[in-house]
Amino acid sequence: PAETTAELIDAHLLTVQDFPSEGILFRDVTSVYANGEAFASVVDAFASHDWGQVDAVLGIEARGFGIAAAMAYARGVGMVSVRKAGKLPGELLSEDYALEYGTATLQVQPNVLPRGSRVVILDDLLATGGTLAAVVTLAERAGWAVAGIGIVIALDDLGGRAALAGHDVLELSSYP
Ligand code: PRP
Ligand code: ADE
Repeated sequence: PAETTAELIDAHLLTVQDFPSEGILFRDVTSVYANGEAFASVVDAFASHDWGQVDAVLGIEARGFGIAAAMAYARGVGMVSVRKAGKLPGELLSEDYALEYGTATLQVQPNVLPRGSRVVILDDLLATGGTLAAVVTLAERAGWAVAGIGIVIALDDLGGRAALAGHDVLELSSYP
């Protein structure tokens, strides 16, 4: 029988101990994207999910960009880049946040979509949920409604699901 999306993710996922810092078990989703069958299965799962109306897909730098662009193309809607501080020009909204191995700032251009737009947010991986919670806040400050959140890999036990409580979250796989 054909492999499921979770099986394809598992078959191609590279896991590295002590990257980017000691004690972190790094799940490198870029190794999943590099396989054509696995990448197509991931993108199809996001694109075919019933999110209700979707006006645009938000991708989070850097490992959210590829899947967000592919889903947006498949659905015929726009793709919005949520970037680390200092990369985007013009009028911006910013949110500081903590993630599993540090702190950072994400930014978005609020004027690229009308207020009231319904957006899906995609990222590769959910750990503490700090990153995705910051992007939900950015979207809400821009006046966009969050139709749902899609993630390739959820790490259990780091609190990420609680950080996204109340949202429609599509997780394609999960690891301890
Ligand atoms: C990683 C990952 C998620 C985030 C998850 O991004 O791609 O965006 O961490 O962690 P959290 O749930 O604890 O917030 P990272 O900031 O390392 O950026 P990169 O994709 O640019 O490497
Ligand atoms: N982002 C936060 N924690 C991570 C992990 N353990 N592997 C890959 N990306 C991450």
